[in-house]
Amino acid sequence: MAGKVPGYGGLGGSGSPRLRDDEEDRVVHFVRLEGAAAVTGLVVSVGGASGRLAGSVARAQNAAAASVLDGVYTEAQAERGMALYDKQCTLCHGEKLDGGLAPGLTGDDFFGEWTGQTVAEMVEKMRNTMPADDPGKLTLEQAADLSAYILSKNKYPAGQRELAAEIAALKQIRIVKPK
Ligand code: HEC
Repeated sequence: MAGKVPGYGGLGGSGSPRLRDDEEDRVVHFVRLEGAAAVTGLVVSVGGASGRLAGSVARAQNAAAASVLDGVYTEAQAERGMALYDKQCTLCHGEKLDGGLAPGLTGDDFFGEWTGQTVAEMVEKMRNTMPADDPGKLTLEQAADLSAYILSKNKYPAGQRELAAEIAALKQIRIVKPK
């Protein structure tokens, strides 16, 4: 299911399943890159599934006082992040995110670094500097997925919507200590 729109199977009718998969990916990327304006357009052109997407974007944008306690990522997104993490990050940050060559990304290491900042700042830091041995290649989407995984390992709750691959939305989500 990585990167797919749930329920977005009804379009295109007789096209091969493989083509429909590609289309799904394009729609997802389009939505993520172009943001709310594009979503509005998609509601007109493809109907149901993107209507739900528009709803989640609107909720994310309205959640001015959101924090990581509010279920701001999905379990599926954290799983995508885990797959990336296992390939690119364990070498320095440890299989359990508890550090090694680099600081841990959980517990006191995490709270000390990020409490009071927003998820956007963590995502920017990753995109600009990580992985430290080959930085600058993570997409916004990948950095959001990795953040979802890091949040899950810090025991913040999963929810119904993904962390958006959009800096403006991520700036609305503050990192606070767990209750
Ligand atoms: C070659 C070693 C190396 C790899 C691989 C690496 N990191 Fe790092 N990372 C570091 C070092 C060293 C620091 C501490 C210096 C700094 O903050 O820039 C750091 C810091 C960080 C921080 C900020 C510190 C904190 O406590 O939160 C985050 C977040 C992070 N890395 C995420 C990642 C992610 C995600 C990946 C995989 C995509 C990754 N790193 C891969 C070496 C690495």
